[in-house]
Amino acid sequence: MILVQISDTHIDEPGALVYGHFDTSWALTKAVEIVNAMDPGPDLVLHTGDIASHGSVPRYQAFKEITTALEAPLAVIPGNHDDRDALRLVFGGTSSLPTTGDFLHYVIEDQAVRIICCDTVIADETPGEMCPERLAWLEARLSETPDRPTIVALHHPPFYSGMTGSSAKGLVRGGAELDVLLRRHGQVVCVLAGHVHRSISTKFGGTIAISGPTTCYPFGLDTGPERLLNISHEPPAIAVHLWLPDATPAGPGLVSHTLPIGDWAPPITLLKAGVRVLAT
Ligand SMILES: [Fe+2]
Ligand SMILES: [Fe+2]
Repeated sequence: MILVQISDTHIDEPGALVYGHFDTSWALTKAVEIVNAMDPGPDLVLHTGDIASHGSVPRYQAFKEITTALEAPLAVIPGNHDDRDALRLVFGGTSSLPTTGDFLHYVIEDQAVRIICCDTVIADETPGEMCPERLAWLEARLSETPDRPTIVALHHPPFYSGMTGSSAKGLVRGGAELDVLLRRHGQVVCVLAGHVHRSISTKFGGTIAISGPTTCYPFGLDTGPERLLNISHEPPAIAVHLWLPDATPAGPGLVSHTLPIGDWAPPITLLKAGVRVLAT
């Protein structure tokens, strides 16, 4: 299984530059081109939230217009910049967002790895939470298939990143309970998040937790005494998660790559089918 993770696209009105610098629609268009050029292509593209800079029907329609070109199926989960009602209007009840309940959470069953998509949004607030109701829902879903490898996806990372503000730890409530819950379910191969606009990985809940990169404006890393949160000019990126049958000596596992987005010189091929084609 090849899973592409797109996150924090922060799509604005067509032509708008976010913070006066960042053409988020261009970056998403470029990401779609890169994903469509993958050979083999992905089985699924998962968006881990903050689809729009501010959730609205016109912005979600702009996002939909760009991602219609995707050849792989797309699934979305909400972030703090999103609006549940507007998301429901544009995506609700479709294969992108098959839910009708209060929370926009659901399960993707038709992939080699089961993907449980959680909704961590607290309306009109930047941080997120896993409240008792959402934790109970997740526990019930994980209890259904204890032997199937599973990814738990959510917008707000449950771990401390070493950064500042809500980028230090996106999940302000329910993180400790989530940690304990996941330890009861050994089939969880990875926790995938977004929100911090930076590729970060650590151990959490007895498994690996990763925040995927953003296609809009990355946040720089500053561990100095002032703990600045800078919008950096590093290239935007997507993540590619490969479910490989021989990832480890013990068997299958998830292997995660970061793919920067930009216009590069053509590749220089060193090996083809394992055979060197370019002399040193
Ligand atoms: Fe974001
Ligand atoms: Fe966010």
